[in-house]
Amino acid sequence: MSSSFLAINFAYVISAALFIFGLKMLSSPATARRGNLISSVGMLLAIVVTLFSQGIDFRWILLGMVIGSGIGLIAAYKVEMTSMPEMVALFNGFGGISSLLLAWSEYHQNPELSVFICIVASLSAFIGGVTFSGSMIAFGKLSEKIPSKAIVFSGQHLINAAILLTAVLSTVFFASNAESLYWVFILIVAIALVFGVTSVIPIGGADMPVVISLLNSYSGLAACAAGFVISNNILIVAGALVGASGIILTKIMCKAMNRSLANVLFSGFGSTVQANSDGPQGETRPASAEDVYYILEAADSVAFVPGYGLAVAQAQHVTRELGDLLEENGTEVMYAIHPVAGRMPGHMNVLLAEANVPYDQLIEMDDINPRMDSVDVCVVIGANDVVNPAALDDEGSSIYGMPIIETHRAKTVIVLKRSMNPGFAGIQNALFFAENARMYFGDAKASIQALVAEFKSGD
Ligand code: TAP
Repeated sequence: MSSSFLAINFAYVISAALFIFGLKMLSSPATARRGNLISSVGMLLAIVVTLFSQGIDFRWILLGMVIGSGIGLIAAYKVEMTSMPEMVALFNGFGGISSLLLAWSEYHQNPELSVFICIVASLSAFIGGVTFSGSMIAFGKLSEKIPSKAIVFSGQHLINAAILLTAVLSTVFFASNAESLYWVFILIVAIALVFGVTSVIPIGGADMPVVISLLNSYSGLAACAAGFVISNNILIVAGALVGASGIILTKIMCKAMNRSLANVLFSGFGSTVQANSDGPQGETRPASAEDVYYILEAADSVAFVPGYGLAVAQAQHVTRELGDLLEENGTEVMYAIHPVAGRMPGHMNVLLAEANVPYDQLIEMDDINPRMDSVDVCVVIGANDVVNPAALDDEGSSIYGMPIIETHRAKTVIVLKRSMNPGFAGIQNALFFAENARMYFGDAKASIQALVAEFKSGD
């Protein structure tokens, strides 16, 4: 074993360790930024070692890195937080297509592949292709460039199963004589691109975050397979880490919605969205800023329940200001966090961290629900689906079974939103008509600013 071989692999082990430490640190908002940096350093080390150890002429790669970094930098500054899932979908797609192209170029350069390499090259091309086209569809749905509704038709599962079977048979055939079967490889690529589309179009509405996370896992698996194709250990490890973390996040999200992955992928959730008028109806009890001020002023405990509307209104800073004023008034202040509130995993944590809300005031759904009966006031800020009691008691509802923050059990609920429009799942919310609920209509930021002004003038 040469000393350079040992040195390269030692550097790869260090990179892998940095990836793992970085990933671990991403699990808490307090350490996430440092975790991201540590993982990036691991990736830089892996890239530098690979480029220098393989005697690669990397002028073109450098050019690509400079252009890619420039685009990434601009995107990171420009893309709104609310559009982050779309951006992640694009990232996943690019990861997938890279693995596909890598496997293709390896095969193109040397078609005399061993059976094992044939299989991993096919896997890399297939999973990479599915990830690419599936992610483009997910991007289109999330950015509403194509209808976000689930598109279902009869025989769809059968067609998908037939496509998958063709891919498996093609791989076996390809591995039997790769050298003379270039067209079969192209067929595998084509099938993958079609399968990405046909497997993502039946998934819609509220299930998109799960799909993004699953595609993230696929992009890791494709990279892992590509690592085997070019015998690169760190690509295998990095791909496996992405594959595993993506599937763990997928599982966590499914659990948060009380659904199985199979149900998410095959049930066509969102294809039959209930119309606004089909939902619960009744009288709402609108409240003014002054009314809400008096309710909050008298409360011993207040739980803010942020949702997607908080992100749209960018109301996180002013919410923190209101929280501080309430604390000064002797009120216990909490922020109840639903795992799928907003439009991406950890969306609310990120926004509240940006406003420097103390981490110990962030309470997870499972911790706040048992004590909800004793909470004086829940202030729902632009949340809808994640506080919809239909998830608990309406078996006909499309969100039935999804765990919610049970704000309806608090003594008083104040709901901040602009209108009676439904949320992401497109269904009406009985909470808004409940006896203990008051609707405080308006843009969340302006509404909370008005409350802050009331508190300040009341001093
Ligand atoms: P939603 O159910 O989407 O409700 C958001 C509410 O915010 C809307 O009813 C809207 O009502 C209100 N709103 C919008 N802009 C506002 C503004 N400027 N000021 C005040 N209110 C505003 O949000 P949620 O409760 O956070 O639930 C999240 C949903 O998205 C779930 O169905 C979840 O499955 C899905 N989803 C989650 C993720 C992840 S991973 N978090 C990703 C994609 C989708 P008005 O229009 O009347 O103001």
